Amino acid sequence: MLIGVPLETLAGETRVAVTPETVKKLKAQGHTLKVQSGAGVAASVTDEAYVAAGAEITDAAGALGADMVLKVRSPSAEERALMKPGAVLVGMLNPFDKDGLQALTDAKLTAFALEAAPRTTRAQSMDVLSSQANIAGYKAVMIAADKYQRLFPMLMTAAGTIKAARVVILGVGVAGLQAIATAKRLGAVIEASDVRPSVKEQVESLGAKFIDVPYETAEEKEAAEGVGGYARPMPQSWLDRQKAEVAKRVAQADVVITTALIPGRAAPVLVTEEMVKSMKPGSVIVDLAAPAGGNCPLTEAGKTVLKHGVTLVGETNLPALVAADSSSLYARNVLDFLKLVFNKEGQFHVDLEDDIVKACLMCRDGQLLRA
Ligand code: NAI
Repeated sequence: MLIGVPLETLAGETRVAVTPETVKKLKAQGHTLKVQSGAGVAASVTDEAYVAAGAEITDAAGALGADMVLKVRSPSAEERALMKPGAVLVGMLNPFDKDGLQALTDAKLTAFALEAAPRTTRAQSMDVLSSQANIAGYKAVMIAADKYQRLFPMLMTAAGTIKAARVVILGVGVAGLQAIATAKRLGAVIEASDVRPSVKEQVESLGAKFIDVPYETAEEKEAAEGVGGYARPMPQSWLDRQKAEVAKRVAQADVVITTALIPGRAAPVLVTEEMVKSMKPGSVIVDLAAPAGGNCPLTEAGKTVLKHGVTLVGETNLPALVAADSSSLYARNVLDFLKLVFNKEGQFHVDLEDDIVKACLMCRDGQLLRA
């Protein structure tokens, strides 16, 4: 199949959907690869490296006009105009963006949104949410350490002792766990909170303290179990008790990293303005939920702002700040997904009996398949 890989055009998007490693593997499977000139430059991959791996270099029309287009983000109207009706599109297309999906449907594309894959063992190697959240969790700590005007580790020097930074992590999914591991390596003292009870053991095994908010009713316990591994909105009674516990920790914290998300909904507010006011001057909040409205109402998406003496970081695309590694993991996710849509002869084939293929397929033949 002719596979095209365009340069991403969304502002700040530095990632690319293939690397020389995955180009080589796709070539070995008999496909022809056309990569837009400069597609990998922001992710430290030159055109020459793609050519050495067996790709041809082309322009935007050449890449977007292929039979299958591999992208990081959903194509813009200009990009869609260069795509062929009936072409296959694979990328992070945002399964909750109804208008975006309708546009792909109207363009007569067969579109797979990789974020919609189920969180099952078989889907793990193509789980883009995990591969990218892992990097976001790491980068959040790096940014916090950079903005924070003190050190993370405890230091005993001839000139006196420096205390270890206190870090609070709210939301301990993939990003939160990596944030704990990274902050721990830097020597911070860490406390973390999540609604899901299974997280406690993971938090403790990474050497952090879990902020326990016991469940008092069957309704609270059931909501906390979530669905498909994801959190559900918690009853107000539990959220109020969580807030009281979190407020105590936030007031003492030097750094707060929030990652709490509920798929398809606005992010829960976990750090109120009152809590920000209670923090020490020079403290830092990195709000990974910024694209979903933020876990702190003072967060400004895409900006770093100073409020009540606290630096609030609202970066909306942290993986794009680590473009080389986030691209190499993403490209491997894409490669693994493609194994499900090519048959043994290397022909494109949609197997709706496959739960991963079915979950990711957003539209086909002008029909929107996602409600
Ligand atoms: P996410 O990005 O959707 O949410 C981040 C975290 O925020 C979650 O841990 C969630 O429980 C938490 N959260 C939501 N509301 C909160 C609140 N009010 N207070 C505190 N925390 C709150 O989650 P992510 O990282 O995508 O992980 C989702 C699930 O998928 C997890 O259970 C994870 O273990 C599971 N998973 C399973 C995989 C597999 O089996 N293949 C692979 C990766 C993740």
